Amino acid sequence: MKIKAAVVREKGKLNIEELELGAPGMGEVLVKTLAAGICHTDISTMNLEVPTFLPLVLGHEGVGIVEEVGPGVTSLQPGDHVIMSFPSCGCCGPCLEGKPYACDRSTELFFFGTYADQGRRIKDKTGQAVGALFGQGSLADHCIIAERNAVKVDPEVDMKALCSLACGAQTGAGAVLNKLKPGPGDTIAIFGCGAVGISAVMAAKLAGCSTIIGVDVVPSRMELALQCGATHVINGRECPDIPGEIRKLTGGQGVRFALEASGVPALVPQMLSALGKEGHAVVVSIIAGPVNLDVSMLFVGPCISFSGVVEGNSNPRIFIPQLVEFYKKGLLPIDRLCEYYPFRELDKALEAAHSGKVIKPVLLF
Ligand SMILES: NC(=O)c1ccc[n+]([C@@H]2O[C@H](COP(=O)([O-])OP(=O)(O)OC[C@H]3O[C@@H](n4cnc5c(N)ncnc54)[C@H](O)[C@@H]3O)[C@@H](O)[C@H]2O)c1
Ligand SMILES: [Zn+2]
Ligand SMILES: [Zn+2]
Repeated sequence: MKIKAAVVREKGKLNIEELELGAPGMGEVLVKTLAAGICHTDISTMNLEVPTFLPLVLGHEGVGIVEEVGPGVTSLQPGDHVIMSFPSCGCCGPCLEGKPYACDRSTELFFFGTYADQGRRIKDKTGQAVGALFGQGSLADHCIIAERNAVKVDPEVDMKALCSLACGAQTGAGAVLNKLKPGPGDTIAIFGCGAVGISAVMAAKLAGCSTIIGVDVVPSRMELALQCGATHVINGRECPDIPGEIRKLTGGQGVRFALEASGVPALVPQMLSALGKEGHAVVVSIIAGPVNLDVSMLFVGPCISFSGVVEGNSNPRIFIPQLVEFYKKGLLPIDRLCEYYPFRELDKALEAAHSGKVIKPVLLF
């Protein structure tokens, strides 16, 4: 079938093209996209900051309606509303242990544009194969996705607000709830209040943290962080000593937990020195360059832990329905991050993300 999709053919350029989408294969479904969010990882991929192959259809935060199911699909049927999340092979050790975020084939399935059988499902007018980011490519009016990566949701919910649950919000909320696991009264600092960071703020509030410190450089994002649960915000551009300020806000102790979601290399050592004894910090961002760490000073003295987290350590078919329930009850107001654009205004949506004006641009089909 003919589709309209946002394709990268060269670094930094994204254009809408008409392409040919094949039929869903074994264990796959064809989805009519209703909406798709732009995540910072789409932009990093467009700028070739991750290993990938072009041409490639971007989009990995799609929501839509199943239109057709391929052979062997048992858990979905046409008409089902789905959130399309990250891919995993389903066969490797981590997948079998229920840890698809640690799939042995993550890099390939996320970024190379191929599906689990190493094939592509899209062709352009000249017959050249075109990849789909995250085995999805949902910046398109239709896409194909593996059954195991599509999460069925209650058709009553307004789908367009849920795009970020597929990646950004799942990452921020999951890093807090599945990895850091703070309890009531704990303290946390969140570096970068974009879609991932503010979702982490919301999750920290849900977990009962008593001090939630957001760090950003865009005043409107800092203000939204406060409205979504942050108890304090720090403007990274104006504060000469962020760890010192965090210590002041925590009675000299430093925070128990911290999360890096800005991608700024210099913030990683600052985050680690803001931790208190036995603190735990995670990096979820794609850090945009090398980081200098004095390991002995940071790790041995205060007994801190430091981890990387992919997609919020989550199993999407279990975690996303939990997040949808939080959203329905007003406990995870991710709709507050969204601004909506018709698909033809893709450039405007990208510009809004780039300028910092909009946290989660969502394209409507
Ligand atoms: N690990 C994963 O699975 C995963 C999933 C989704 C996104 N990501 C990555 O997480 C990161 C965040 O994604 P996002 O969509 O929220 O991006 P975003 O661009 O919306 O958020 C980044 C935030 O950092 C802020 N920032 C920039 N410079 C800063 C500074 N010097 N000090 C403090 N704040 C600063 C920006 O103003 C912005 O609010 C990206 O690197 C993205 O690629 C990782
Ligand atoms: Zn796997
Ligand atoms: Zn993403």
